[in-house]
Order: sequence, then structure tokens, then C-alpha cells
Amino acid sequence: MLTANSLTLWQFVSSLPMMLAGRRHHRAALQRELARLFAVSETRIMLFDSGRAALAALLAAHGVQQGDEVIVPAFTCVVVPNQVPPLGATLRFVDIAEDGLNFGWATLAAAISPATRVVIVPHNFGVACEVPTWLRERYRHVRFVDDGAHGFGSRCDGQLLGTYHDGAFFSFEYSKNISGGIGGFALLPAGMSLPQPELPELGCADEWRLLATLKSHLLAARWPLLGRISMALTRRLGLVYRSADAEVHEGMPHRARALPLLSSVLIRRQLARLDSVMAHKAALVARYRAALAALPQLQQWQAPADTHWVRYPFALPQRVVDKAALARRLSQASGLTIGVWFDDVIHPAGSWRHGYVAGSAPHGEALAATVLNLPLNIAIAVDAALEQKLARLVAALTLYLEGEA
Ligand SMILES: Cc1ncc(COP(=O)(O)O)c(C=O)c1O
Repeated sequence: MLTANSLTLWQFVSSLPMMLAGRRHHRAALQRELARLFAVSETRIMLFDSGRAALAALLAAHGVQQGDEVIVPAFTCVVVPNQVPPLGATLRFVDIAEDGLNFGWATLAAAISPATRVVIVPHNFGVACEVPTWLRERYRHVRFVDDGAHGFGSRCDGQLLGTYHDGAFFSFEYSKNISGGIGGFALLPAGMSLPQPELPELGCADEWRLLATLKSHLLAARWPLLGRISMALTRRLGLVYRSADAEVHEGMPHRARALPLLSSVLIRRQLARLDSVMAHKAALVARYRAALAALPQLQQWQAPADTHWVRYPFALPQRVVDKAALARRLSQASGLTIGVWFDDVIHPAGSWRHGYVAGSAPHGEALAATVLNLPLNIAIAVDAALEQKLARLVAALTLYLEGEA
């Protein structure tokens, strides 16, 4: 644990009185601010309680229906494919590129059929990519929708992710670039505008859950022991906010709700400091990159300087039998919270398979078995203490790699 990547404790506390201005005020302001950032009209921004709800709205807006096929990357979160079957469309998983984080264009092109209506384009870990012009021209019947859940604010060749395909969805869930606890939005494609949907509000108990869970994340990022105690208490009181079990284990679609008031305020506070937050994370990435370069067996990925990494991934040369156990070991040794995203082609491991056939996406499976990640949280200072932690991480990884050799 250690998320709420861009949120400060002060922003969290000082957001509470700001909530007095009310939902309508904050949602309208957020819609305006997002429209300004993406240089689009406000009618192209639709706010939701999650990225998955925004995806469902985009699929519907593109007219996905019975008989259509939707291509989903075979390295994603289960809540992404969950939104397709309720529309009557079929899912097709397509592998990511060998040694890559996102699609290989030739593999994607080979998978597109006359029935393909939408391709969900991944930008995993925040590394933004663009579908090549030849592919878009060859398949004019296909709409390319960006899954920007990991890359809010990332750019590809200077263009802001979400602005150059056929619409995009973003997430403001705890672990994402900007944390509203939960939340998300759809950026509609150019030429499309829809009214804000009338959605049920989050219940009062859920707003308290959000508050309690976020508080534990914020404490964990600064004082790990206090964070653990806070989370244990929150759990005991039944106040942890998380995805419904039926969504994760049974593949149920999400029931969309309105973006909560608390989330709207928190997101606005972080948006106001997006540039400095991204600069801090870029400095962390530079340190991580340099430290891990001491072990050339590890795989790292190049990305433009204006990438908003959600976490910093690196992959081991061999498949790891128990990645979670290794991540725990490395976290203990280094004092940095090492993550396991994604631990399966349909994350998390053990979630609903949606008919995925084991072995059909070898590159996604290999990545899921080898990738670990480092946190990108503004509570982590770029200082001598970080260098010491990185030195301990490299020592622990060296020991592990020697043991495997
Ligand atoms: C790649 C990816 N896409 C989409 C989502 C869905 O975002 P949300 O949790 O806001 O529905 C997630 C999140 O967990 C994700 O990792």
C-alpha cells in the first residue's frame, strides 16, 4: 500500500471545508478545468464515479451493440472487459508487444475483423502511444478509445493523451496519477457532445468509507506503521472502500454513479498543481532509472520526458513464481513499497477470465510474471535517504538474481 500519488495531507484536510460549496459547484468547476486542460469544449467532458463507468459510456456513445467485437489488451484490469458483455458485444483479447507495455501494431492489425467496432488502446503505466496512421486508415470502421487510467497528463509526441484518438477515459481511483479516492471521466471524441448523465449519488456511508480509506493511504505514504494501523482499524470498522467482489470475481458490469463531492474537491486541488507534481515524479523516475541501470539484466522502458508514470515498472529476466512474496521481500529490504501491477493478463490474478484462453497472449503473460514497480508518490523526497533505499533495493535484487542464476 502507498497510493494517493499526488495528494498531500494538507490538500486532504483543507478540502473538507471546501465541500461546503456543494456538489454542483465543484463538479461544474472540475468539468471546466478539465476542458481547459485538454483544450476542448466542456460538453466533451463527462464525469463519473470511476474510469470503468466512463468506458461504458464511451462504448455506448460509439454505438457498440450485439454482433460487434471490442478488442481489449491482454494486459489490463478486469473492470475494463467487464463493461463489454452487457452491450451484447463480444470481447477479443489481443496480446501486447514483445518486451513492451502496450500493443504491437502489426499484431493489433492482424486481429481486427469486419466485426471490430472499438479497440481499447492501453497506455500502461502512463506511457502514451499513438495508433499509426496506416492502421487507422486501413480500418476506418474501427474507433480507437484510449484507456488513459494510468496516464492522466501524459503526452505522446507532445500531444496530450486522450486528444488524438476517438475519445478516452481516465481514472481518479486511489492508486492513479491523481486521486479522488474514486472517480473518472470520459473525454468524448471531437464532434461528439452529450449532456452530463443523471446518475445516482454515492450513499453517505460510502462517502465516509472514501474518506477513511484515503486517510489511511495518505498516512501510509508518510508513516508506514501509522498507515498500517489506520488501515487495519478502517478494515475492522468495515470502512474500506474497494471494488465490489462481484465485479472482480464474477465479471459484473459497474453500476455508474455520480462523481462524489469529496472526490471532485480533491481532484481540483491536485489539478491546480499538476505541473509541479509531474516534475517531482519525473525527478523520482530519473533516480529510479539510474539506480536500476546498475543491473542491466532488468528491463526498463523508455518514454518521453512528459510521461506521467503512475508507477515505475521494471521487469526481471525470469518468471517469478511468487511475485507478491518477492515484492514484500524487496519492500522490507529497501523501505520502498514495491508493487506487482499487473499480476495477470486480467488483473488481479484470480479475477473473472471472460473466456481468456491461457497461453493466447504470451507477451502479456510473460510481463505479468516478471514486472514489478516502484512508487511515484509526492511524499517520497528525492534526497540522500532515497539513494540509500535504492542502494538497498539494488543489493536485494542482486542477491535475488544471483540466487536465480
Ligand atoms: C488499466 C486500467 N484501466 C481502467 C481502470 C479502471 O479505473 P476505475 O477503477 O476508475 O474504474 C483501471 C483501474 O483500476 C486500470 O488499471
